Amino acid sequence: MSIAHGIKTLGILGSGQMGLGIAYVAALRARVPVLIHDRSEAQLKKGLAFMDKLLEKDVAKGKITSTDAKEARDRVTVVLPDRGLVGLRDADMVIEAVSENLSLKEAIFRGLSAELGPEPILASNTSSISITKIAAATLPDGEGASSEKGKKSASRVVGLHFFNPVPVMKLVELISALQTSKDTLDRARAFAIACGKEVTTSQDVPGFVSNALLMPFINEAIMCLEKGVATRDDIDKTLKLGMNHPMGPLQLADFIGLDTCLAIQQTLYTGTGDSKYRPSILLERLVDAQWLGKKSGKGFYEYP
Ligand code: CAA
Repeated sequence: MSIAHGIKTLGILGSGQMGLGIAYVAALRARVPVLIHDRSEAQLKKGLAFMDKLLEKDVAKGKITSTDAKEARDRVTVVLPDRGLVGLRDADMVIEAVSENLSLKEAIFRGLSAELGPEPILASNTSSISITKIAAATLPDGEGASSEKGKKSASRVVGLHFFNPVPVMKLVELISALQTSKDTLDRARAFAIACGKEVTTSQDVPGFVSNALLMPFINEAIMCLEKGVATRDDIDKTLKLGMNHPMGPLQLADFIGLDTCLAIQQTLYTGTGDSKYRPSILLERLVDAQWLGKKSGKGFYEYP
């Protein structure tokens, strides 16, 4: 028997490419009302415009009807920055999709727990950060991790890792913190399935399965470039034509964002202490230069 996710309203925090992609599949496929909040109004506007474009494109291709598109768009409500996290109070599940930074995520989960109380499921779309650490940030003031209130608060935290572009990629990786309850896991899994995704599960280790495998591969490709083993184009061509990857590793790194790649690689390195995960110096320098890939117009490639 399939388990109902029971989500009547979804909250999303972060309106970048991941947050908007999640809003898109939740509103269109799971057909749930979505509240989307960001601390930047400009980013919210940009995200919503991108969603409109995607819906229009899907209507033009005959993938969805114009009624589907209108209904999906009407399900999405923007929560402007000045309302703060309290604007997500009606959500029974919130998915956080902000940048890959532990202290930022801890502050957000602390705030969500304080503003929304102990009931809503709190999910993180983190690519690599410990869900157990994030869950520990939700303990209400004055409660210990082993008090009843403390245990309940942390037990509704889960990792729900979508892939970019969210409307296209078929997978969601489900990650259980040490504290996560079975009910939380079951409902989060059911919600991802309602969004049209297949679900794999992973233990809460740095990078989970996806990025424990993908990032060292990308990092090695960058080291190959750094050492002059081959040109950028030949490295990407080797993987595209030799192994049938849809994108070469350097193009994929640009697509993910070089700052995100570096943050994940650093989490693998510090989280395991294993020198095999040391980030490439070239990757660090590109991020120092703010050449962050597609989103900044320049990375390994240029995006005019
Ligand atoms: N949003 C929504 N849809 C998009 C899209 C976007 N940003 N970009 C492309 N698409 C859609 C297109 O509309 C098109 O749809 P139809 O089949 O309905 O026409 C389809 O994807 C294919 O697009 P294109 O023909 O333009 O281009 P393509 O065939 O080269 O595919 C791609 C583009 C899907 C991005 C493909 O190159 C690909 O799969 N690349 C690898 C992506 C990947 O590995 N993503 C995971 C990154 S890791 C991650 O996200 C998580 C992490 O933790 C870091």
